[in-house]
Amino acid sequence: MAPGLEIGSEQKNQQIQQQEDEAPQSFTSNAYSSINRKETVAIIGSGNWGSVAAKLIASNTIKLNGFHDEVRMWVFEEILPCGNKLTHLINQKNENVKYLPNIKLGPNVVADPDLENAVKDATMLVFVTPHQFMEGICKRLNGKVRSDAKAISLIKGMEVKMEGPCMISNLITEQLGIDCSVLMGANIANEVAVEKFSEATVGYREDKRIADKWVQIFTTPYFLVSSVRDVEGVELCGTLKNVVAIAAGLVDGLDMGNNTKAAIMRIGLREMRAFSKLLFPTVHDNTFFESCGVADLITTCLGGRNRRVAEAFAKNKGKRSFDELEAELLQGQKLQGVLTAREVYEVLSHRGWQELFPLFTTVHEICIGHLQPSAIVEYSEHTPKFSLVEGSAQYY
Ligand SMILES: NC(=O)c1ccc[n+]([C@@H]2O[C@H](COP(=O)([O-])OP(=O)(O)OC[C@H]3O[C@@H](n4cnc5c(N)ncnc54)[C@H](O)[C@@H]3O)[C@@H](O)[C@H]2O)c1
Repeated sequence: MAPGLEIGSEQKNQQIQQQEDEAPQSFTSNAYSSINRKETVAIIGSGNWGSVAAKLIASNTIKLNGFHDEVRMWVFEEILPCGNKLTHLINQKNENVKYLPNIKLGPNVVADPDLENAVKDATMLVFVTPHQFMEGICKRLNGKVRSDAKAISLIKGMEVKMEGPCMISNLITEQLGIDCSVLMGANIANEVAVEKFSEATVGYREDKRIADKWVQIFTTPYFLVSSVRDVEGVELCGTLKNVVAIAAGLVDGLDMGNNTKAAIMRIGLREMRAFSKLLFPTVHDNTFFESCGVADLITTCLGGRNRRVAEAFAKNKGKRSFDELEAELLQGQKLQGVLTAREVYEVLSHRGWQELFPLFTTVHEICIGHLQPSAIVEYSEHTPKFSLVEGSAQYY
């Protein structure tokens, strides 16, 4: 479909009327005031998961009345080996031939290599790039997005700054001055792409109506989304499970079996919860039982790319670096777990918490070659030392 083209329908009109009838009379912020307007969605990022997000959202905007059909997707431009630009091929074939081949994105998805152009009309911004690029992207977008826009981050990872850890949702809010929710869950992109049933969790900050909008544009019969008022809890679950997945991959590479892997996952979940609650005491225990928590941990430790590359790392006895294995096995896709392990380690060492988080600490030390992969099960001889950090025992 040509950019800007709309598909009208009676069903869409009925939905708008219903939304207007149900909407409260006044909202207090820009994001709230746009809640009743026809929304325009843009996606910032177009990798494996970004392309699936485009497919999910486009299938909804085309049929829901409160949304413009077109979904603009910013693509980090690449020239492919065939000599073509990635954006040209996406628009020509309606497929992301590099990051999600053989899946149609929907006729209303438009790939755009111009970041500012992609976001300029958007009232709903979906951020889904590897987290290491977000600081630069936010700088480029500063002052360029609509003040009444709202954002959601599908990004797993955090930035560690001098003043402490900064979650990506927070980075977006700080740099762009807009509300930011998060969506995380047990969602290996290639499985969602072929419409296998799965669930996801939206974490929102204050207003349930904003969460409902996000739930509306992501939910399909095969992708069920629910919401919880716990941005940090949801985001930290999605971020930290990648560190545990590295540990699970090491266990697989060492052929240690299912009991060991289950033990590593349990200890990892415990450290995820303790770390999250020590950083943000507002984080809810229940969040760890949502799709973003235990379910994402399970799927990532069984099937994700962090597990896979860590397995190869252990099989090679740590002699081939994660960078080398990432380039060979993932072909342009990015590994998040190793970076996140380093970021978590920086937080732990800055606060003197290493002994409280033996799994997280050990994963980082294995990744940088200070410990052998087999150390992943040796750390468990040291139980966390609660007395080091006041109040920490209650989180274990
Ligand atoms: N793939 C999954 O199964 C999955 C599932 C849930 C969440 N996520 C999260 O989604 C986020 C995005 O992952 P993905 O799988 O869509 O990406 P990906 O790893 O498949 O692809 C990498 C992307 O980064 C882009 N890129 C490369 N260099 C860049 C640069 N300098 N600046 C900006 N972009 C650049 C590439 O064009 C490509 O779009 C990550 O935070 C990931 O943790 C992924």
